[in-house]
Amino acid sequence: MNDSFHTVTTLPTERPAGCPFDPPAVLTDARKHGPISRYTHPGGKPGWLITGYDMVRSVLADPRFSSRKDLMNVVDFQLPPAPPGEFLLMDEPEHSRYRKPLVGKFTVRRMRMLTERIEQITADCLDAMEETGPPTDLVTAFAKPIPTIVICEILGVPYEDRASFQEQIDAFMGGEVSDEELIAAYTATQEYLAQLVAAKRAHPTDDVLSELTDSDLTDEELRGISLILLAAGFDTTANMLSLGTFALLQNPEQLAALRADPALTDGAVEELLRYLSVAKTFHRTALEDIELGGVTITAGTTVVLSYNTANRDPERFTDPHALDLGRQAGGHLAFSHGIHQCLGQQLARVEMRVAFRALVDRFPTLRLAVPAAEVGLRPETADIFGVKSLPVTWDTK
Ligand code: HEM
Repeated sequence: MNDSFHTVTTLPTERPAGCPFDPPAVLTDARKHGPISRYTHPGGKPGWLITGYDMVRSVLADPRFSSRKDLMNVVDFQLPPAPPGEFLLMDEPEHSRYRKPLVGKFTVRRMRMLTERIEQITADCLDAMEETGPPTDLVTAFAKPIPTIVICEILGVPYEDRASFQEQIDAFMGGEVSDEELIAAYTATQEYLAQLVAAKRAHPTDDVLSELTDSDLTDEELRGISLILLAAGFDTTANMLSLGTFALLQNPEQLAALRADPALTDGAVEELLRYLSVAKTFHRTALEDIELGGVTITAGTTVVLSYNTANRDPERFTDPHALDLGRQAGGHLAFSHGIHQCLGQQLARVEMRVAFRALVDRFPTLRLAVPAAEVGLRPETADIFGVKSLPVTWDTK
């Protein structure tokens, strides 16, 4: 019988007061009871919540669990399939058809070649911060522009279109607008991407989207791929940069260690990814009856995978709630695992290594300009966790 399992009925719930970097207590508490808990989706459908590291990882590697949008059994109506090209919510073989042509464009080598350009973009943002002077909002001055400019260059969004394009993606990724505004921003982004794909087909330039026009992918599919690259790649990195800076400022010994030792940078990025896990929750649906940790997950049931709780599992990471930039954080699930493991992880790593390093070197006296409790956090309902703004200041002499 499944009835001896811990039950979680309310998600999402907010984080404990004063602990903006920790998962909600309901989740940490669930994991203490075991890796899997009974759960009811907000739409009333029964499901399971998985919070243990080993079990989350094994579900992610198991092809009997699906990512298909139309199979997600979380609401009381049938969800539509993912639009063409939006392969995050597809299974094989459709998933590979879209992912394969992209893999070679996001390799470690390709991303290392971008390092110099990312250093320049970062330096420009930091120059602008110095020129304007303190205080400033680190989200608008640093965390958002770096990944936005980088993704615009990768996709080949012309310079003159960037301001309006950034406004649209801000609106549809920020989670802070009404449903009508969200739909309007999504539609405007779709329309813009359709025009962009047509322009690249007519006059290819030196960018990923132009390269992809030389394949059997349709315009509609290319638009979907561009949208998924944006949606998956921009907001995640921006929130890692802003929430990561907040976490470093709240852990001054760790920040001092990072500042003193550039060799710590790569490890620090992995630890911040583990500790913050901004892409916190994903779903999978059982395609058949599956035995897992003494539970039978019946075919058609959707499970919630809590990456941020798994990344704080004491059976996998010693003293998991401590930010320890010197630890071996490799193997964390912040980029997921299995066939959907983040396609842009090497890009995100280069962006974070360059940006955190340059920020701590350039502003040795950087500090919060408001009490930590006044830093506005995103609600737990947001897909990607983070801060809304991060007011910072520094000494100018
Ligand atoms: C720190 C920043 C980032 C984090 C934390 C992150 C996290 C993730 C996670 C957790 C997934 C898998 C979701 C699942 O298990 O279903 C994912 C998938 C994906 N990410 Fe990232 N991501 C980041 C940056 C990027 C960037 C910069 C790009 C590209 C420009 C990108 C592109 C993608 C794509 C295309 C997928 C879908 C992969 C697939 O379904 O095969 N991500 N990301």
